[in-house]
Amino acid sequence: MKLFLDTANIQELKDAAQTGLIDGVTTNPSLVAKEGVKFEDRLREICEFISGPVSAEVISLDYEGMMREAKKLVTIAKNIVIKVPLTREGLRACKSLRADGVDVNVTLCFSPLQALLAAKAGATFVSPFVGRLDDIGQAGMSLIEDILQIFRMQQLETQVLVASVRHTEHLLQAAMMGADVATIPYKVFNQAYQHPLTDIGIEKFLADWKSSKTRQESSTS
Ligand code: E4P
Repeated sequence: MKLFLDTANIQELKDAAQTGLIDGVTTNPSLVAKEGVKFEDRLREICEFISGPVSAEVISLDYEGMMREAKKLVTIAKNIVIKVPLTREGLRACKSLRADGVDVNVTLCFSPLQALLAAKAGATFVSPFVGRLDDIGQAGMSLIEDILQIFRMQQLETQVLVASVRHTEHLLQAAMMGADVATIPYKVFNQAYQHPLTDIGIEKFLADWKSSKTRQESSTS
């Protein structure tokens, strides 16, 4: 499963990317607004050190506007993926952009049928938002299960990009279900490699190593 980081924060991205484990980035207008920077400038900065797919979202709601924005955004870098909302206009724009060879991430997906239509529009990625479904009392991860089943049965190539991930349990389930990608916040990335028993184990190994070294030194003196 590929791991994308869901952030527009340069420090977070640089820190996580340093591990070599980050395969791409997703941004959205809310994440960029939080940074207080110009959208295009931030995307350019991100693409300077991230070579995998970087999703950049259009804000127009109409087909023509989306296409206009997409044409500008793809000039930023080769790895820009155009993010369009899962609306009728968004699906239409997806189809046209894909015909032009542009990678597209269809976002704000909340139902299996929406995902099926995104795949029919040729989307490179479809982003079902699991956390936001959980927020309204629905089972976000069941949506992933349904979409994966449909895509396997129908042999659809669109990659399922699990989005709106809130905790490591979402990430674990996404991996176990066979999702193609999960985009995760920086906090979840850092939680995923930590375990208290790993820390306790390291402390014990170091303490044992130090005491055996002291014993060896005192026996040779
Ligand atoms: C994905 O592309 C979105 O940016 C993101 O996962 C949304 O997550 P949220 O529901 O935490 O805002």
